[in-house]
Amino acid sequence: MKKIHIKTWGCQMNEYDSSIIFYILQKKLKYISTKNAENADLIILNTCSIREKAQEKLFDQLGRWKKLKNKNKKLIIAVGGCVATQEKKNIYKRAPYIDIIFGPKTIHRLPKIIKNIYQKRKKIINIQSNNLKKYKFYKHQSLKKISGYISIMEGCNKCCSFCIVPHTRGKEISRNPEEILSEANFLAKNGTKEIILLGQNVNSYRGQSINKSIVKLSHLIKLISKINKIKRIRFITSNPMEFTNDLIKIYKKVPKLVNYLHLPVQSGSNRILKKMRRSYSISKYKKIIKKIISYRPNIQITSDFIIGFPGETKKDFEKTLKLIDDIKFDMSFSFIYSKRPGTPAARLSDFVSLKEKKERLYLLQKKIQKNTIFWSKKMIGTYQQVLVEKLIYKNNKKKLFGKTQNNRTVLFKGSKKLIGKIIDVKIKDAYMQNLKGNL
Ligand code: SAH
Ligand code: F3S
Repeated sequence: MKKIHIKTWGCQMNEYDSSIIFYILQKKLKYISTKNAENADLIILNTCSIREKAQEKLFDQLGRWKKLKNKNKKLIIAVGGCVATQEKKNIYKRAPYIDIIFGPKTIHRLPKIIKNIYQKRKKIINIQSNNLKKYKFYKHQSLKKISGYISIMEGCNKCCSFCIVPHTRGKEISRNPEEILSEANFLAKNGTKEIILLGQNVNSYRGQSINKSIVKLSHLIKLISKINKIKRIRFITSNPMEFTNDLIKIYKKVPKLVNYLHLPVQSGSNRILKKMRRSYSISKYKKIIKKIISYRPNIQITSDFIIGFPGETKKDFEKTLKLIDDIKFDMSFSFIYSKRPGTPAARLSDFVSLKEKKERLYLLQKKIQKNTIFWSKKMIGTYQQVLVEKLIYKNNKKKLFGKTQNNRTVLFKGSKKLIGKIIDVKIKDAYMQNLKGNL
């Protein structure tokens, strides 16, 4: 049996794609998985290009695998994902020993491509596709997963000036609702309790139903909530540009939708948002949050922030800090702006030094950390609904591991019979990484 080693970088979508890759190659070419690249007959690297660092990592990694190829001429190395789409044959220029370059939408063609390589040993680039056929070949296999991803759409039609995603993932395509529901039912039957709907821009979801009607994200959430065995629903990533009233109201209508929302704001300055081509203002963003809070007073909001976007002044940055105080964002992600070739922002002049950007990032992260501790401490003494995921060993002691609605890990003593159940846990202590509690 041939062995495959898959390395995945980047977002949850890439993780999901990698599981499709493995599924298809196992099914069609009988590959088995190996954690060790040295034993592999086929190595696949699923890449990310959202920031420059991720891209540079690619060539470091390929350099290390080149040595394996020198030892084993039959080894096949394939590069997929967003860097592959962006760089195409440039990858061959820097790493001529690569055999296959494929894109996020051409995963389902891999079995054919690999067979071809074995027969002809010719390099192949296969990136273009305007459909989501890859899902047709896929059935989840990491069954008995308490929490399971379902990809609902891919690509993005927005044109945020800093972002490479519309280029690498292409135009938005939504899967049809029947296909998504069948996947959700399949997961539910096999033990999944929580569904996480995935996409670059999930609130742009417009799935065409068999009866030709168009289903939006709010409607899809309602349909999934009707599956009895599914107890929780989450979605990532949505954006404030299209957070319409029907989606806001769904927080009132669907209790299974968690008390948690990740809604990336990027900056607290309207001037910068405009330059980023994010078509909302801070007051619009606050209005969305306020409406959601009116239905869900205890909801926790998290966000993404870009620090040092070209032209960001101290004043702009202070507005971002002020917004963090106003919204009291919980655990969030923050990044120093990374210039992406071909994006509109790459042409803007950037006068803030890296040192200054790092200082701003530090200040911002400190503030977010303080908020995170604030929200965690507020939970001490309260009962939280915890979805129990697994049993783990911590300091040689068995502990149940579960998640609260607001995405915090809770460790507590209890029987493994509770795995897969939602139970009330009283929070005892709060630490940076997790909470401790009692049944
Ligand atoms: N669709 C989401 C964002 C997806 S990209 C939205 O509308 O907000 C994930 C995150 O990566 C973004 O929220 C942003 O904070 C970060 N990011 C994207 N491009 C970046 C860049 N060029 N430099 C730094 N961070 C970036
Ligand atoms: Fe990127 Fe903006 Fe779309 S951040 S993924 S272009 S919504």
